[in-house]
Amino acid sequence: MLKNRDLVHKFITKRFTSDRVFRYVVATTDRLKHNIEDTTMLKSTLKKAVSAMIISAAFSFSAWANEPIVIKFSHVVANETPKGQGALMFQKLVEERLAGKVKVEVYPNSSLYGDGKEMEALLLNNVQMLAPSLAKFDKYTKKIQIFDLPFLFDDIEAVQRFEQSEAGKSLLKSMEEKGITGLGYWNNDLKQLSANKELREPRDARGLKFRVQNSEVLDAQFKALKAVPRKMAFGEMYQGLQTGVVNGAENPYSNIYSQKIHEVQKFITESNHGLLSYMVIVNTNFWNSIPEDIRAELSKILDEVSVEVNKKSHDLNLADKQKIIDSKASTIITLTPEQREKWRDAVRPVWKQFEGEIGADLIQAAEASNKKMR
Ligand code: LMR
Repeated sequence: MLKNRDLVHKFITKRFTSDRVFRYVVATTDRLKHNIEDTTMLKSTLKKAVSAMIISAAFSFSAWANEPIVIKFSHVVANETPKGQGALMFQKLVEERLAGKVKVEVYPNSSLYGDGKEMEALLLNNVQMLAPSLAKFDKYTKKIQIFDLPFLFDDIEAVQRFEQSEAGKSLLKSMEEKGITGLGYWNNDLKQLSANKELREPRDARGLKFRVQNSEVLDAQFKALKAVPRKMAFGEMYQGLQTGVVNGAENPYSNIYSQKIHEVQKFITESNHGLLSYMVIVNTNFWNSIPEDIRAELSKILDEVSVEVNKKSHDLNLADKQKIIDSKASTIITLTPEQREKWRDAVRPVWKQFEGEIGADLIQAAEASNKKMR
C-alpha cells in the first residue's frame, strides 16, 4: 500500500493536462481516504488537510494548464425526453456562461455507460455527472426508496412539493459519505403499465413477467401483484419485450414513446401508479475540487435548468401520449376509480414492507405533500 506522503509526492511531480489532473486528484483523494479508513492511522483532521492540499494543488495545476474543466454527463434516455432535454440545456448554458472554463459533454442513450455501469463510472470519476432514476440508488441509501412506493404521490405537483421540502432536500445530501452529491431533482412523470393483454384489474397481471429497474421496492411491487419482476437495464427493455423475455413494463409516456415501447406492447394502462424522477448527481470529490466561483455558477445554472425541466416534463409526457394515440400502435386503457383503487389495495402492503428502511416519518412527510390527504 502506498503511503499518503508518496501519493502526494507522485501527484506533485507528475506532469498532467488539467483534465488528467482532476481525474488524478479524485482518484488520489479516494485512495487516500480508503488508506486512512483501512489503517485508521490518521485522524479526520489530517484526512481533511491532505485532501485540501491535493485539491489546492489541483487548482494551481489547472490554472497553469489553462484548460477547461470537462464534465462528462452520461445518461440512458433519448435527447427528446425531460432528462435528455435537461442535459442539453445544461450544456448550452454552461457554454454561454462559462466558456473556456468548463466544457460539458453529453452522452445520451447509454452511449457511454448503461445502467449498472454508470454509477461505478461516476465513483471512478470516468464521468462527472449523471441523473439516474431515483429507483437506482438503493445500494447507496435506503431512504431514497421512498420515491418508488406505489401510489404515494397523487400527481407530479405533489412530487415537486416533497422534493422542495426540507425532507426532500436532505436526501440530496444523503450519499455524500459514499462520494455522491445530489444537486437537484428532475422529474419525468408518473408511470403507466404496459403489456400485450389488457390490464384493468390486478389479477390481469398475475404470472406476467415485468421488466423492472434495479429496485427492491419495484421488485416487491410486482410480487405483490403475483407477477414476476425481472430486473433489466433500460437499454435492453425494447428487445426484452420484443422477444418475449418479459411481457410487460412500467414507464412514463416519454420513455414509452422515445423507446418505441408502444410498438411492442398492444396495451398501455394509464395507472399513474408510481413515479419516475431523477437526481442529478456528481462525484463529491470532483465537485469540491472545482474553484468556488465556478462551482457557484454551475449550481446556479443547474437550478435554472431544474426549474425548466420540472415545468415542462408533464406537458412533454402528455404530448408523447398523444403521439402514441396518433400512431394507433397501442391502445391506452383508462381505469375507473374503482379499478384504480383495486391496484392501490393490491400493492399497498409494499409500504409496510419498506417502512423500516425508509422511515415512517419520511413516508408521512411525502404523504403530506399530497393536496388532499386520503
Ligand atoms: C428506467 O430504467 O426505466 C429509467 O430509469 C430510465 C430513465 O432514466 O428514464
